[in-house]
Amino acid sequence: MERTFIMVKPNGVARGLVGEVVGRFERRGLALRAMKLMRVSRELAESHYAEHREKPFFTSLVDFITSGPVVAMVWEGPQAIKVARATMGSTDPVDAAPGTVRGDLALEMEQNVVHGSDGTQSAAREIGLFFGAEELV
Ligand code: RTP
Ligand code: MG
Repeated sequence: MERTFIMVKPNGVARGLVGEVVGRFERRGLALRAMKLMRVSRELAESHYAEHREKPFFTSLVDFITSGPVVAMVWEGPQAIKVARATMGSTDPVDAAPGTVRGDLALEMEQNVVHGSDGTQSAAREIGLFFGAEELV
């Protein structure tokens, strides 16, 4: 069993897509272990996206993720990280296959509705950044 950190980004929450996204992960067979609606502080956003600090889109990315409430979640299942990223689709929604979250619900790179951890180390790091041990079931 593996755990991954998934977040519905501000545009997904604003567009009323939380249920749609959660439903897709549920139907895929992953198990929800934690979930909360929250605002991401600038400090948390900069830690979360630390790997992108030198990229030209970093400031824009932090502005976007702090622009409104997000839904932070932990999902669990066999190869949950890989399964969740396949369910989400390619980073750029233009390349995302129909049937995926981004392929069905998004069109722009930054406004790509969901975030998912990209490996076991980032999953553990991101779960720890967003949740305390007492919030995980
Ligand atoms: P995420 O972290 O959001 O799950 O997406 P990802 O692993 O598929 O993509 P990543 O490379 O980690 O990039 C994080 C987010 O930054 C935005 N991005 N913009 N303008 C650009 O070239 C660019 N590249 C990435 C996207 O919103 C991406 O989800
Ligand atoms: Mg990423």
